[in-house]
Amino acid sequence: MSTVAGPVHEVCSSLDLSRVPAPAFVVDLSRLRRNLEHLAAVKTAAGCRILLAQKGFSMWATYPLIRQYLDGTCSSGPWEAMLAREKFGKEIHVYSPAFTDEDLAEVIPFADHLSFNSVRQWRRGLEFIRRSGRHIETALRINPQVSTGDHAIYDPCVPGSRLGIPLSELKGEDLSALDGLHFHTLCEQNADALATTLDAVESKFGHLLHKVKWLNMGGGHHITKAGYDTDLLVRLVKRIRERYNLTVYLEPGEAIAIGTGILVSRVVDTVHNAMNLGILDVSVTCHMPDCLEMPYTPDIRGAGPQGTFPHHYRLGGGTCLAGDVIGDYSFPHPLQPGDRLVFEDMAHYTMVKTSMFNGVKHPALCLWDPDKDELTTVRSFSYEDFRDRLS
Ligand SMILES: Cc1ncc(COP(=O)(O)O)c(C=O)c1O
Repeated sequence: MSTVAGPVHEVCSSLDLSRVPAPAFVVDLSRLRRNLEHLAAVKTAAGCRILLAQKGFSMWATYPLIRQYLDGTCSSGPWEAMLAREKFGKEIHVYSPAFTDEDLAEVIPFADHLSFNSVRQWRRGLEFIRRSGRHIETALRINPQVSTGDHAIYDPCVPGSRLGIPLSELKGEDLSALDGLHFHTLCEQNADALATTLDAVESKFGHLLHKVKWLNMGGGHHITKAGYDTDLLVRLVKRIRERYNLTVYLEPGEAIAIGTGILVSRVVDTVHNAMNLGILDVSVTCHMPDCLEMPYTPDIRGAGPQGTFPHHYRLGGGTCLAGDVIGDYSFPHPLQPGDRLVFEDMAHYTMVKTSMFNGVKHPALCLWDPDKDELTTVRSFSYEDFRDRLS
């Protein structure tokens, strides 16, 4: 099976950028559809179910499209789950590292699957579910304790991790009421990392896999990224499904929205301090926080790393944070106030993580439908949105 992601510069390529109410995130519906078609093909080939991990992408104006292809959503707690119920429907899965009693009371009336992070939490959840009279399938999140990634901040298998139950903590427990198992160990990884994880899951938790009805393999599968080994993923899912006679769920976030969106910003000023500096109307800490957390330098359309083009700038946001620096770039022309800069691949883990620190004006949220030549601003933000979050 081929992979789908094409060059990111194709995203919104037919859109005249002067139409965009910058600053704005713009999601290209044709690219989103392309990712979803690929995920639907994986579902068919592997015989599994795929959920949207809302933590990675929750621009719910796109949910009517996404729900045509995927089986439901996974949420990290009551608020995401409520969004799923209101805007997505289908299967509602919720996992939280720790549900409060209030969380349980909120999600139990409508969730379909709950995954718990400790045996104590699971038993508490079962009590609440029994009292509610609803049928909800429950799972434990297990930790196979096999690290396959390079970034400790995104590795739930690091020693001392609070995410997922190691085998030693299940010793002597009666788990006969369990419907499923859940693991999430990957981040932006290929199917070979899943293979390594599954070997550990099978060797440590194989006795439980024979007893449960479903296995949720979490997210972090870079399924729609060019070069992803989809055939291996399909083989692995089929192997587990057939060997243990269970339903397999995948819950990617990034793979749904990768290569689908841009952030359109403007240069507000240029200044000089030993080098050329550009100050933009977007901020890395407010609008692209993953660039600081991962960290990585986002691509700008038409620009290159230092030395590629004659005009070199260090770009930063209009906040007071000295470290609100996006990176060093070179451009074919000197930058001028009002120039529009396009940050590539800015749909996933951006809108969901943004803040209004410093009262920086918040980018609008737009959809671009190239088939209809239609640009829709689905949300713009005002001073009142900033004010009302704070008191
Ligand atoms: C439990 C769980 N499921 C799914 C995901 C989605 O991962 P990704 O967006 O990398 O596919 C995450 C991400 O942190 C997660 O913690």
